[in-house]
Amino acid sequence: MTVKKCLFPVAGLGTRFLPVTKEIAKEMLPLVNRPIISYGVEEALASGCEDIVMITGRTKRSIENYFDRSFELEDILKRRGKLELYQKMIQISEMAEVLYIRQREPLGLGHAVLCGEPVCKDEFFGVILPDDVFIGKAPVLSQLIKVHERLGGSVVALEKVADKDVSRYGIAAGDEVESGIFRISDMVEKPKLEDAPSRYAIMGRYVLSPEIFTLLHGQQAGTGGEIQLTDAIRELTKSEPVWGVVYHGKRFDCGTQKGWLSANIQLALDDDELREVVMEIVNAQK
Ligand code: G1P
Repeated sequence: MTVKKCLFPVAGLGTRFLPVTKEIAKEMLPLVNRPIISYGVEEALASGCEDIVMITGRTKRSIENYFDRSFELEDILKRRGKLELYQKMIQISEMAEVLYIRQREPLGLGHAVLCGEPVCKDEFFGVILPDDVFIGKAPVLSQLIKVHERLGGSVVALEKVADKDVSRYGIAAGDEVESGIFRISDMVEKPKLEDAPSRYAIMGRYVLSPEIFTLLHGQQAGTGGEIQLTDAIRELTKSEPVWGVVYHGKRFDCGTQKGWLSANIQLALDDDELREVVMEIVNAQK
C-alpha cells in the first residue's frame, strides 16, 4: 500500500521567469544554497520514495548533470584538499535513484504524467510539481501518503485560496469526511470564479492510482488546449476514491519571481547566520 516512486514533471519552459530561464532550467535556480529541484527530491525521499522519475525535455540537461557524478570537479576538489566539498558533491549524485523520460512535446501536465507510464503503471505513485516548494516540518507528500495508506485510493494536496486566485489553479470539491479530508467528487482546471466548485485549490502534490494512465490515454485537450491532469483525476473519481487533504505547511510558488524571492527570504530567516544578513538589510532601510 505504500508509495515508492515519485514523478517530477520538469519539461516546462518557465516562461513566467524569463529572461532568466532563457538559458537556465527554472528547476536549477537557487533557493539559498541548493537548486529548487533538490527541495522536491529531498521531500520525496523523506516521504519514503526510492525512485525519482523526471519527465524532462531537451533544454533540461542541467538537471541530469546535477544528479550525476562530475569526475572533473571531484578531482579538482580532491587535489585542492577541499574534502568536505568533495564529499558533498558525491552525496548529491548518490542521494537517489533518478530515471529520466523525455516529454517530446509540451502537451500539458496530464501528458507529462502519461509519459511516466512505462515506469509507474503497476503501482500507486507520487507526483511532485517542483515549482511548489513547501517549507515545514512534515513533508507534504508524506502527509498524502499517510492518507493513502489509511484509506486507499488517490490523494491530492489542497489549500483554501482567495477568490482572486481561484482561476490560477485546479479547484476541487467534495464531502468533508474527517477534519481536513474530503472525498473529491468534482474538479475544474483554472475555472472562472463563478464556475469554481469550491475555494480549495490543488497544490503540486499528488498520490495517483495507475488507473490514471488509462484515463489519460483517452483524455482530450482541456483548458489552455493542454491535456490536463485535473480532467483525468475528475474521471477517476467516478471509479475509485480520490481524497483531498488540506496539508500543513507553507507553500511558495517558485515558478514566479515573487514566490521565489519569498522562499529565499523565508529560508534565510530560518538560518541563524543568514537571518543576520537579511535583518541588517531590512534595518538599514529604516
Ligand atoms: C498545475 C495544475 C493545477 C494546480 C497547479 C498547482 O497548474 O494543472 O491544477 O493547481 O499546478 O501549482 P500550472 O501551475 O502548471 O499551470
